[in-house]
Amino acid sequence: MKGIILAGGSGTRLAPVTLAVSKQLVPVYDKPLIYYPLSVLMLAGVSDVLVITTPMDRPQYERLLGDGSALGIRLTYAEQSSPNGLAEAFLIGADHVGDDSVALILGDNIFHGLGMSDLLRRSAESVKGCVLFGYPVSDPERYGVGEADDDGFLVSIEEKPEQPRSNRAITGLYLYDNDVTSIAGRLTPSARGELEITDVNRVYLERGQARLVDLGRGFAWMDAGTHASLLEASQYVRTLEQRQGVRIACLEEIALRMGYIDSDQCYRLGQRVANSEYGRYVMAVAQSGFDGGASR
Ligand code: TTP
Repeated sequence: MKGIILAGGSGTRLAPVTLAVSKQLVPVYDKPLIYYPLSVLMLAGVSDVLVITTPMDRPQYERLLGDGSALGIRLTYAEQSSPNGLAEAFLIGADHVGDDSVALILGDNIFHGLGMSDLLRRSAESVKGCVLFGYPVSDPERYGVGEADDDGFLVSIEEKPEQPRSNRAITGLYLYDNDVTSIAGRLTPSARGELEITDVNRVYLERGQARLVDLGRGFAWMDAGTHASLLEASQYVRTLEQRQGVRIACLEEIALRMGYIDSDQCYRLGQRVANSEYGRYVMAVAQSGFDGGASR
């Protein structure tokens, strides 16, 4: 399975911060926002990832993450000239996807919870159709909302409904089989001028091939799109990290745990940023011989 992180967009709700800095590069407590969605893909076992950015911001992402080889993964970059919608990711990324299945994650989405990586790996194993992840929210009218039958198949999907049929918001992580590139290729822009991911999902729904997996109470799902949600996400990460002494979305630790790098390489990566608590944590993880502890 290939991965795509969609890290373009205009980030207007985070202005003036985003006048000069891309949203997905701003810090969520101790690391840039994009570390969180990248960690989700890595935990799902996806190690070949395309990062889609605006043309202006691409050099900064390349400076931050490079070609991924330091983490034992492959990272490539592509540009979205303007925010033409989430489904454009499959047109921009068609060559990257090739004849594989693909996981798309929004660059400002944070997922955390016990069993996340097992759930993802199981869901990613043999995707036929699409797999969406639903999260119970108290204000479903603000989201794309999905309703599933008893077998977990999507029966309705509504965009920001006034009278939601369920409280399941569809989160910014989507798994698709290879058909997604041709489905996206047939889309026409919506009334707001975007290629809508909901239209892609609706095609799978009509085929009876859209699964909605519930992320239950044990999970946190946050998007860091506003100043308040960015601060809340930072506080959440800080609280967990300080109380438990582990780090959420520590890419080096995940790479070590997934067997993408060895402990010597992990240590070297920590040394590069040794003056930060993050760097010292990475070095400690490398030195501990890695006992299978959690990084998420
Ligand atoms: P949004 O939060 O919907 O949009 P945005 O990032 O432009 O922010 P704002 O609403 O404040 O102007 O986007 C969700 C994620 O998807 C975010 O990480 C940016 C990304 N995105 C793209 O990369 N390309 C797009 O065309 C769109 C619509 C979003």
